[in-house]
Amino acid sequence: MSQQDPAWWHSAVIYQVYIRSFADSSGDGVGDIGGLRAHVDHIRDLGADAIWISPWFASPMVDHGYDISDYRRIDPLFGSLDQAEALIEEAHRAGLRVILDLVANHTSDQHPWFRHALDSADGAPPRARYFFRDGRGAAGELPPNDWNSAFGGPAWTRSRTPDGRPGQWYLHLFAPQQPDLDWSHPEVRAEFVAILRFWFDRGVDGMRIDAASAFAKAEGLPDFGLVPADGFRVDEWRDSPMWDVPEVHDVHRLLRRVADEYDPPRMLIGEVVAATPSRFADYLRPDELHTAFNIPLVKQPWSAPAFRAVIDRTLESLALHGAPATWVLSSHDETRTATRLRPTGRPGAPGAYVLDEGVRDEGVPHRTALGGGALEEIGVRRARAALLLILALPGNVSLYQGEELGLPEVWIPDALIQDPVFVRSDGQVRGRDGCRVPLPWSGAAPPYGFTTGPRTWLPQPTDWTGLTVQAQSDDADSTLQMCRAAVRLRRSRFGTDGHAWLPAAPGVLHLLRGSTSCLVNMSGEPVALPGSPLLVSGPHPHGELPPDTAAWLAR
Ligand code: NOJ
Repeated sequence: MSQQDPAWWHSAVIYQVYIRSFADSSGDGVGDIGGLRAHVDHIRDLGADAIWISPWFASPMVDHGYDISDYRRIDPLFGSLDQAEALIEEAHRAGLRVILDLVANHTSDQHPWFRHALDSADGAPPRARYFFRDGRGAAGELPPNDWNSAFGGPAWTRSRTPDGRPGQWYLHLFAPQQPDLDWSHPEVRAEFVAILRFWFDRGVDGMRIDAASAFAKAEGLPDFGLVPADGFRVDEWRDSPMWDVPEVHDVHRLLRRVADEYDPPRMLIGEVVAATPSRFADYLRPDELHTAFNIPLVKQPWSAPAFRAVIDRTLESLALHGAPATWVLSSHDETRTATRLRPTGRPGAPGAYVLDEGVRDEGVPHRTALGGGALEEIGVRRARAALLLILALPGNVSLYQGEELGLPEVWIPDALIQDPVFVRSDGQVRGRDGCRVPLPWSGAAPPYGFTTGPRTWLPQPTDWTGLTVQAQSDDADSTLQMCRAAVRLRRSRFGTDGHAWLPAAPGVLHLLRGSTSCLVNMSGEPVALPGSPLLVSGPHPHGELPPDTAAWLAR
């Protein structure tokens, strides 16, 4: 793919930088722009086409940056606007596009708009940018409706009047510190158009649209009528009054018009949740978003029919609009693939934020959730095989930092957990910290070159010596070397070819694209390798592909 290609988002490898855990240059144990600038070469050497940087804007950090108080400032924890501009330029020089993260369903409760709304009377204009409503019950003591927050518990919090009495309630689909904006308000639309232009004018090539299916709420905010099965959270998108409401598409058309003002046009990639593949595909109509993360793949068990069904359904529905898929196995919201896919995990566990019980049982504070045992090794093998599969598929691939190192989920002791989900679930749901542990760069002990300071914001395991970027760069069989080879080969072997499935034994997938095929053995038995492989995800005897292994073959 060339830097000039305006349709680069059809087959890109997008590397997700979760900035607070990527690399630290200031010594405070939290990743920052300086750390990212120092390691742009790692992302370039991987062969990625773009970096998606999780929010770096001014934020009280209740949800680690997904609660923004000023969209035009960089949080001092991460650096300055000058540094951000330098990073954009350096990334471009390294051949990498830059995608930022637009969190526009909600602001922080410290955003001036929300402060102003709280200080205003019921029904006053500053409140109309959010959802303030009277409570139900004789004294307004009950939430206005039965909606649940994606982080668990009611989606409403009661505000206080300036003189301290209980006041109206406000809506938050996430934490109470993340009040939802009302996108039917013209000032909300105008402000986000201006914010998009602010960053696009600085050379940013694209935006990830956070919570893209939440930007419209059903008229009148009616009850959903669903009680959370786990007593905590409703994970249902069908006929929801708060997710995937049809009016949401007007917002994406507006964002697209702004992206299209630029030459080359800027790219929009959505975090979309919808009940069906066709509802998902609606977001990718030619005048809406360019692509969206394919989250259902993350929910699949290690099963050939399950993977194949998601792949086929996704590609069929996107083909209707000529839109490319973006394949994902992990992110800052998901249990690390190597842990999720291992046999004792709970593959397909509901919700993005659940860490499986197996990890809980075996967890040893400050150590990795895995113990180096046979089952854990299978998890790593599966994660590597799954990577070869998604890198062979048509469309984009989103790689979450550390995925190229095969990092496992980490067990974080209760006292150190930071994810608001943990607090809101009274500790029932551990949350997402286990996949957000700072990256190991080099050396034999924490902080593994992540920081010059003594501590990292989340503890790193003591047994990651062999997983550092440095150690894996020196090991021809490492996950990092496999990833680098796969990204390189993908570029030369897979063009814009569509996919077909070749006949294969039960539990085996054999995908064909052009003159290259990808064989993935998800069965419990070895299968014959039809030819000599270009790349294999793990050790294999001559002529055979063992279980939990994938190979690319020339046809
Ligand atoms: C999705 C983001 O990926 C997640 O990390 C965040 O907590 C929610 N949206 C709320 O912004």
